[in-house]
Amino acid sequence: RSSFCKLLKQSTRPLTMSSIEIGKKAAATAAVNDWLKDNQKVGIGSGSTIVYAVERIAERVKNENLKISCVPTSFQAKQLITEHELTLSDLERTPELDLVIDGADEVDKDLVLIKGGGGCLVQEKIVASCAKDFIVIADERKDVKKLGDNWKKGIPVEVIPMAYLPVKGKLESLLGGEAILRLAKSKAGPVVTDNGNFILDCHFSDCMKDDWYKVNLQILATPGVVDTGLFVKMANKVYFGTTDGKVTTR
Ligand code: 5RP
Repeated sequence: RSSFCKLLKQSTRPLTMSSIEIGKKAAATAAVNDWLKDNQKVGIGSGSTIVYAVERIAERVKNENLKISCVPTSFQAKQLITEHELTLSDLERTPELDLVIDGADEVDKDLVLIKGGGGCLVQEKIVASCAKDFIVIADERKDVKKLGDNWKKGIPVEVIPMAYLPVKGKLESLLGGEAILRLAKSKAGPVVTDNGNFILDCHFSDCMKDDWYKVNLQILATPGVVDTGLFVKMANKVYFGTTDGKVTTR
């Protein structure tokens, strides 16, 4: 009887991708189809949506015999590039990029982004700043009227470890909310970034929502801050994928 129940359970288990994954894959595939061209130097972002973009890049490289070199934004991205047998480069060999594709945690109507949910914001911003075109891919949950509407973690800010406590106090007075040290899932200690730093997830008051350019500069002016997860005036185009596989762009 128990093996019959097991069989029944298996046969009724949905075999399809979750609807959110459908949206991520649709956005990533459309962006790679529209933007990837032969001989390009491409920056590869981090997170879960970028996995679908790398899969599509690898597919096109193989099928169309494209010559593409890839610069990673994190250890995860580096692994994705090598696992898919793409050509790995770096900013020393390839300081100027044609294209960067990356995910985001939130995108507002002016294409201002919050990034850094995966803790890779510093390298992501550096790599994006080296590209002619910075293309963002996301599922539709990331599309917001105002930053902070969905992303309850606030703005991720990477800090030098010895400075995290004074920086926390200064950012709390500046932003009017709490700056929370990001802890590892095990809660055994802080998350340590690929650069050996900590992350403060900075909650902000509503009045911040009017001038992200200024907020970004104010945070950056605090000694000990390496960079912020606010990407202002950087993205050229965003692809949002819906749960039924449709894609809209902005
Ligand atoms: C990592 C990032 C990611 O791009 C962002 O968190 C989106 O991730 P996902 O594609 O998993 O939703 O900024 O630092």
